[in-house]
Amino acid sequence: MTQSTRTQVVIVGAGPAGLFLAHLLHRRGIESVILDIRTREEIEQTIRAGVLEQWTADLMRDLGLGERLDREAHIHSGISLQYGRERHHLDLEELTGGKRVTVYPQHEVLRDLIAGHLGQGGQIHFGVQEVDLTHVTGDRPRVSFRRTPDGPLETLEGDFVAGCDGSQGDSRQHIAGRTDLQKRYPFGWLGILVSAPPSHHELIYARHERGFALLSTRSDTVQRMYIQCGVAEDIAAYPDERIWDELHRRLATDGWQLTEGHIFQKGIVGLRSAVSDRMQSGRLFIAGDAAHIVPPTGAKGLNLAVADAVYLYRGLEQHYAGGGQARLDAYTDTCLRRVWRAERFSWYMTTLLHVNPEENAFEQRIHMADLEYVTSSRAAATALAENYVGLPLEG
Ligand code: PHB
Repeated sequence: MTQSTRTQVVIVGAGPAGLFLAHLLHRRGIESVILDIRTREEIEQTIRAGVLEQWTADLMRDLGLGERLDREAHIHSGISLQYGRERHHLDLEELTGGKRVTVYPQHEVLRDLIAGHLGQGGQIHFGVQEVDLTHVTGDRPRVSFRRTPDGPLETLEGDFVAGCDGSQGDSRQHIAGRTDLQKRYPFGWLGILVSAPPSHHELIYARHERGFALLSTRSDTVQRMYIQCGVAEDIAAYPDERIWDELHRRLATDGWQLTEGHIFQKGIVGLRSAVSDRMQSGRLFIAGDAAHIVPPTGAKGLNLAVADAVYLYRGLEQHYAGGGQARLDAYTDTCLRRVWRAERFSWYMTTLLHVNPEENAFEQRIHMADLEYVTSSRAAATALAENYVGLPLEG
């Protein structure tokens, strides 16, 4: 026998897009239920980037989720760009009229969102199985699933479905007539987590002839660092000494020393840009990684997912307030204007800072000229800074 329940908005996926959407809806008294095939522990432990644009951090505060953020997160008012052993400071705050970024890891954001939502009586079913989205785009959109392998098949029906289940999720497959525009980069990132104090008070993005390096942070005792590596390389080819050797060389500058520590996590990811040209079909709307992927350079992924959630919320809010469908109808167009700008910026930071083995000497030299321009022209630095701290939301 199938058990049936109803809600207003079914949210598939408890990542940034799904959880921010649930919070925004809840604040307006609109009910949702979130389903995720992952357990709460898996979600809260997955390591991702950790830079919040100014408005994303402000939204967390607005939603009453800013307490731990304000206690533990690090506010950065600048970044450094490095090439040719020289480090160039970009004062984001001064260049953007007061905007800064917040370094707070994505899984910490998710922990706060999950605890906050459950604390308000919000419904999240973790670790669900056999999720079936076959009937998700019809007039009576519904999702079926089991809470446990031998639990009953349940059907959850909603007025709308939000597909926030990532690039490997099933939601995107149900958007009719969708095409992905995409690009793969011929290099990857090797990322490590290190027990050590910060080596520098801000993030350093370095272009070196041996490849890109990024010095980031997680807390006063844990640091995050990355080096460019080959796209299909095996992590076994990188014993700790080799990683440190590359980091020391690529980040070297006069009068500064990288602090080493115990590497307790390492992994390699490929870099990809992708955009779905449609983000809605009937009563199904996709948001976040389900709709678009950015390479990590610039850390735009989470912020873009939250922007989608805000736009979808505004459409749903208008609908439930009796204001019609205009915002929901415009959802894809509204999201994609911002998405393409973030795609451009992420692609730009990626090509600017990585050594692409497929580019010739002319193309490599152009990137050096670009770096010289960005670090010497206030206009060029301002353009980079305003994208880095985040472009304003529309409307
Ligand atoms: C990170 O800390 O994981 C991080 C920071 C900045 C980026 C990408 C990743 O641009």
